[in-house]
Amino acid sequence: MTRPKIFITRIIPDLGLNLVKEHYLPDIWTHDLPPSRDELIARSRGVDGLLCLLTEKADGELMDAIGPQLKVISNMAVGVDNIDVPAATARGIPVGNTPGVLTDATADQAFALMLSAARRIVEADRFLKAGKWVTWHPSLLLGADFAGSTLGIVGFGRIGQAVAKRAQGFDMRVLYHSPNAPPAYGAQPVDMDTLLRESDFVSVHVPLKPETKHLVNAEFLSKMKPNAVLVNTARGGVLDQNALYHALKSNQIFAAALDVTDPEPLSLDSPLLELENCIIVPHLGSASKKTRDMMSLLAAQNLVAGLKGERLPNCVNPEVYKASS
Ligand code: GLV
Repeated sequence: MTRPKIFITRIIPDLGLNLVKEHYLPDIWTHDLPPSRDELIARSRGVDGLLCLLTEKADGELMDAIGPQLKVISNMAVGVDNIDVPAATARGIPVGNTPGVLTDATADQAFALMLSAARRIVEADRFLKAGKWVTWHPSLLLGADFAGSTLGIVGFGRIGQAVAKRAQGFDMRVLYHSPNAPPAYGAQPVDMDTLLRESDFVSVHVPLKPETKHLVNAEFLSKMKPNAVLVNTARGGVLDQNALYHALKSNQIFAAALDVTDPEPLSLDSPLLELENCIIVPHLGSASKKTRDMMSLLAAQNLVAGLKGERLPNCVNPEVYKASS
């Protein structure tokens, strides 16, 4: 039997990489920047397994270029919007992701952003470092309170629920909007208009899909309170950045804090960068050492299972197994 071929599109943490290496001799993209489209196609042609990151677009064209021997695509991320999952399903290829292990880190990041925007931490840091701190003043850099405020969570999956759990400790009232998600952590299900009308903080936790593209648009923002803070740790495409710029610039809402943008990296020409009331960080929701280790392990486990013809421990298109069972 010939040895399965694998392409891993970046150096991932050792926990996952070593698991793959115990079984196989993977080809690894060792640069910090992702492979270009041409490089991705060239290096993955003929492989049996692809382990990629959210920076790689795995569409039907790539799958066809790789060839019919492709047994598994393992994404080192929970979101799979970079993968054309229906195209993989149509070709019988299971797609793996890394749910659960990044829930707490991402909820922590949403909270860190919410606190930073509410208490103007980034602005205050810049203020101090620019030598503007001359005295303590009763009205210097005043922000918003958490206790007694209302948090609206859009999308109540694992991460949305972990945000609700944290909000309990801050004495916040929590509303959520998410079709079919049962209540948890004292959060109350409401329709979207109620959530936007009543929330002082709105945190977005929906996957990017055609139906959630630009869910946060001019109309959505116009329904928010003037003191409201918007936080997005989901995907940049869920938000219309142009509409957000106008809402922030005209003080229609108080502030925004974004972990994700569209595109990534955000162009340095983006007008959002001019705004004092907009915090933007470079997609760091899952960026803790332990979380990235665990993500690499789950991604490796999915890859190895797929190569062995076993069911992926975390498969986003389990319907591929129905066809063959
Ligand atoms: C990160 O954004 C992920 O989807 O894992």
